[in-house]
Amino acid sequence: MLSFVVFGASGDLAKKKIYPALFALYYEGRLPKNFMIYGYARSSMTTEEFRNKIAESLTCRIDWSKAGESDCAAKSEEFFARCVYVPGQYDQAKDFKALDALMCENERAVSSVKRVFYLSIPPSIFVPVAQNAARECQSKTGDTRVIVEKPFGRDLTSSRELTAALAQDLSEEQTYRIDHYLGKELIENLTVMRFSNIMFQPLWNRNYIRNVQINFSENFGTEGRGGYFDNYGIIRDIMQNHLLQILALFAMEEPASLDAEDIRNEKVKVIRCMRPIEMDNVALGQYKGRETDGKKYPAYLDDETVPKGSLCPTFAAMALFIDNARWDGVPFLLKAGKALHKRQAEIRVQFRHAPGNLYGERQGRVEHVTNELVIRIQPDEAIYLRINNKVPGLGQRLDQTILDLQYKNAYGQVELPDAYERLILDVINGDKRLFIRNDELEAAWKLFTPLLDKIEEQKIAPELYPYGSRGPIGAHYLASRFNVRWGDTE
Ligand code: BG6
Repeated sequence: MLSFVVFGASGDLAKKKIYPALFALYYEGRLPKNFMIYGYARSSMTTEEFRNKIAESLTCRIDWSKAGESDCAAKSEEFFARCVYVPGQYDQAKDFKALDALMCENERAVSSVKRVFYLSIPPSIFVPVAQNAARECQSKTGDTRVIVEKPFGRDLTSSRELTAALAQDLSEEQTYRIDHYLGKELIENLTVMRFSNIMFQPLWNRNYIRNVQINFSENFGTEGRGGYFDNYGIIRDIMQNHLLQILALFAMEEPASLDAEDIRNEKVKVIRCMRPIEMDNVALGQYKGRETDGKKYPAYLDDETVPKGSLCPTFAAMALFIDNARWDGVPFLLKAGKALHKRQAEIRVQFRHAPGNLYGERQGRVEHVTNELVIRIQPDEAIYLRINNKVPGLGQRLDQTILDLQYKNAYGQVELPDAYERLILDVINGDKRLFIRNDELEAAWKLFTPLLDKIEEQKIAPELYPYGSRGPIGAHYLASRFNVRWGDTE
């Protein structure tokens, strides 16, 4: 049996991601037959009200092959019947004891129970909740696992403190540090693409790759989350975790096997090979307000939860280097920003020029392109390769075209599972491949903390960019210093 507890049951993440993911897993028959979901939070609420709250965010995935045969309503009712709300304080052992008693009551007929605790709560209460849950609510007959959401600290020191505090009551084996980008379909595919296709293997190094770009952009600001965001900024919110994880999977050596430890050994190795980040290789930005066609878009500083005059970056671009034999000298350009012109996440691999000049300008023809491989993580998942091709017909005109794998076309109208579905299922199954190990976290903070300290100590002012734009000019100057053009600005 599975007893799944969501601490922070009335929060945004729970509502937007955790309940829909649990329901989707139930709908697809992926949860154990016998399961219960407990929402735990401070607010007083009845189980009925809790179920109504969950109902607002549930949707049934449409199975196009069975269109019209939806059993969504019936399934939702079955699911709600397993959801219970438990009000309680986060620092009161007695409230956790009451939760334990209720779970024991519901588990009394079964011999083996797995308990999963999801800490969907602010970082300030991670430790008391994890301690209380570990001390009062561990399963007596099976595994207990705890899912921790980022931020895992805000620098090396605080991250170490958090790790040590959690380790007092929970083993590393029980701790699942989630980075939801690792649950995205195309990130899961990255290792498959690299290590199962012979054509990529010889090219995946400094001899053929000129630069790699990892871009993340959102077309909305911090709306409502300014209070949280201002304490972290875009580097901690997106780069130190999501983008660095992508980079590690992209650049790591082939693991000995697909076991969690083998993969994480390779990831941590490549992060440790990264050169300290120089301030000169970083561009920072913050969005300012804009008015277009009568519509007003707020500045970051207009958010009431943001302190006046905050220098917090909502945009950052940086060049990273991996000092190992495979990647020596190849710039990895990372870019992340809020309130930009579109929502997108992608990896761009720009290859070197084909040697020789057979089809070059010497022939008086249009310059041919260098190859570029694009892995579009979202939206519209795709992998495509930009190549030179002869325009069909007489003559020798070259054209730039793409070999194109659009997931929608190749795999039909299958809605891809949300990252949280995959990750929650992995926790239930005890698969740690897609979770961050403590030494990885340590290596990531070691890389970013000196830079973050410098930005804060020197009070470096971010360059302002208009809401909805392509970001600050500084990012383009930065890329041009490495002879690179951001590929996503076309
Ligand atoms: C979160 C960040 O980790 O990822 C948010 O804290 C960001 O600021 C979000 O909006 C983006 O996730 P996704 O899956 O919508 O790209």
